[in-house]
Amino acid sequence: MKIENNNQRGFWGSRLGFILAASGSAIGLGNVWKFPYIVGENGGGAFVLIYLLCIFIIGTPIMLAEFTLGRKTNLNPVGAFKSLTPQTTFTGIGYMGVLAGFLILSFYGVVGGWTFAYVVKSITGSVLSFTTPKEAGTFFGNFIGNTGETLFYHALFMGVCIAIVIRGIHGGIEKACDILMPTLVFFLFLLMIRSLTLEGAMEGVTFYLSPDFSKINSNTILIALGQAFFSLSLGMGCMITYGSYLSDKESLTSSTVYVVMFDTMIALLVGMVIFPAVFAMGLEPTEGPSLVFSVLPTVFTSMPMGQVVSVIFFTLLAIAAITSGISLLEVVVAYFIDERGWERKKTVMIVGFGIFMFGVPSGLSFGAMSDFKLMNMTFFDHVDNVASNYLLPLGGMLTAIFVGWIWGTKNATEEIQKEENVFGFPWVQCWEFLIRYITPVAVGTVFLAKVLP
Ligand code: TRP
Repeated sequence: MKIENNNQRGFWGSRLGFILAASGSAIGLGNVWKFPYIVGENGGGAFVLIYLLCIFIIGTPIMLAEFTLGRKTNLNPVGAFKSLTPQTTFTGIGYMGVLAGFLILSFYGVVGGWTFAYVVKSITGSVLSFTTPKEAGTFFGNFIGNTGETLFYHALFMGVCIAIVIRGIHGGIEKACDILMPTLVFFLFLLMIRSLTLEGAMEGVTFYLSPDFSKINSNTILIALGQAFFSLSLGMGCMITYGSYLSDKESLTSSTVYVVMFDTMIALLVGMVIFPAVFAMGLEPTEGPSLVFSVLPTVFTSMPMGQVVSVIFFTLLAIAAITSGISLLEVVVAYFIDERGWERKKTVMIVGFGIFMFGVPSGLSFGAMSDFKLMNMTFFDHVDNVASNYLLPLGGMLTAIFVGWIWGTKNATEEIQKEENVFGFPWVQCWEFLIRYITPVAVGTVFLAKVLP
């Protein structure tokens, strides 16, 4: 009954389709671009262990809470909170989420454009002529500083997202993820085989898998938690929106477990591609954000079959970015469809174009507008900072408080247990405890640690 109330909304065609789409949202630049370099910067194995703890204790409960809110209400984040409480304060979480989606996609699309460009530049071979990461870094710097070129690829990336989302949930997002996610996994395995069979690969595996706990401090833990959050697409109602297209027949708990496992597995496997290759070529993994765009091209240049590997790697990165980009766009689109009664096609075009336009100054932050700084940060840095360091953790914390205390775990578990009997071990009680006590405190701590000087 609730599903038919708006024929612009749509639904998932199958449970597998839903899981692939939600995993597609989760698996993104966060896994392939960011995870390797923060592991590299934070000492390898020990960081990975802490990250896993954050995923299971903090991330998983919030994802289940978001899916539950979505399926219960069949609405976008604003509508979901609005329909469950008369208290307008909590509707604010929904508005924050929609705003965060808008902001994140505005700069995510810029980086998505870079990945497209590197696919093309791998095919033409222009990123494969470097002997040192420094040279590759200069090339990368020149590219992202080039206004015309970056704008072109940024627009192309947004155009692809728009073309998918405009076709709706089942015919657009689900279909795209049905094709793109298996391709991504296939490419990842090809790359892993190449990487692990390089001479000297084992050194990288050791760095990656043997924990050195002397490198862990309180800041590392915060970084791990923030990354867990971003990687699972939490804190802004993305999973509320995806859950809202799910039918009552499907199990929320097992869907959550699949998505979390899939996302985590991909992040871990990407490490198994990158570290062995970097170490085998005698380079350092501590490069920071440019690891993927400057160290890897150097690695590919000197590796047998390097060009093929490069094309495959950057295509994988582009796929990961697209399936996440469409989930961000869908959050904003769902708001206008549900709350304003807009028609999907028109909404996707207006919203997509608006996000692109707002992203232009972010795209120019590495070139034409690099001197345009406020408090020593570029436009790109500010948008990223506001969304990732403020809106997401705040949204995550308030969502946990809302589900744990306001709407209440009693209502939530009723929705969760609609389709299944939770047998044996009291998983649901475990979840209730985590979402009420542990999650809000943990996320609140991260938030305060980032905000306070
Ligand atoms: N999870 C994606 C990544 O790892 C990015 C992403 C998509 C996201 N939707 C989100 C992050 C919602 C936070 C909130 O790259």
